[in-house]
Amino acid sequence: MSVGLHIRPEEHSDEAAIRSMVAVAFKSNAEADLIDRLRREGDLTLSLVGTREKPVGHVAFSPLHLKDAPQLKACALGPLAVLPGHQNSGIGTELIEEALRQLREAGFDLVLVLGEPAYYGRFGFTTEAARALKTPYDGPYLQALHLSAKATGARGAVVYADAFTGLS
Ligand SMILES: CC(C)(COP(=O)(O)OP(=O)(O)OC[C@H]1O[C@@H](n2cnc3c(N)ncnc32)[C@H](O)[C@@H]1OP(=O)(O)O)[C@@H](O)C(=O)NCCC(=O)NCCS
Repeated sequence: MSVGLHIRPEEHSDEAAIRSMVAVAFKSNAEADLIDRLRREGDLTLSLVGTREKPVGHVAFSPLHLKDAPQLKACALGPLAVLPGHQNSGIGTELIEEALRQLREAGFDLVLVLGEPAYYGRFGFTTEAARALKTPYDGPYLQALHLSAKATGARGAVVYADAFTGLS
């Protein structure tokens, strides 16, 4: 467990800190803009902040629609960011583990992520689990995690939240 880390849902007063932390971690505004747009459009399924007195990590999830399996409750993980200086101390791991616990409890069946398999593999995400899906991000970085047995029926086209339109 990461020392002194407290994880909680984002609050309105966190928005500026999340924005600057994400921009610094990614060295770009694109991911921070994405989070702001998801929030504005009501598409932040889950947004958790990790604090050590101040926010030091953040993870966002947004809804996914599976055209051929609309009964499945699915969401996309990302962006995930940890403030430089606090990286590699378990914060990202704890944010993801807590988020997955909450999503399971909320009845989610499937989570997709676009990222490094070497990182997300440790949480059980695999490219294999995403293979039957058709997304704008197909390839070696697209991975899925089944949260329920129902997710084995996941296949076909996946629609991301509008905020992802135009992102590559
Ligand atoms: C990637 C990131 C979220 C990881 O969070 P973190 O709190 O630093 O990571 P943790 O402490 O949970 O995990 C550390 C482990 O992950 C590994 N790791 C970190 N970033 C990695 C990456 N991009 N690819 C593969 N492995 C990575 C570390 O080598 C370390 O491995 P070890 O446990 O074998 O020593 C964080 O470094 C970050 O914000 N980076 C910049 C933004 C970014 O790239 N976001 C992710 C997009 S996919």
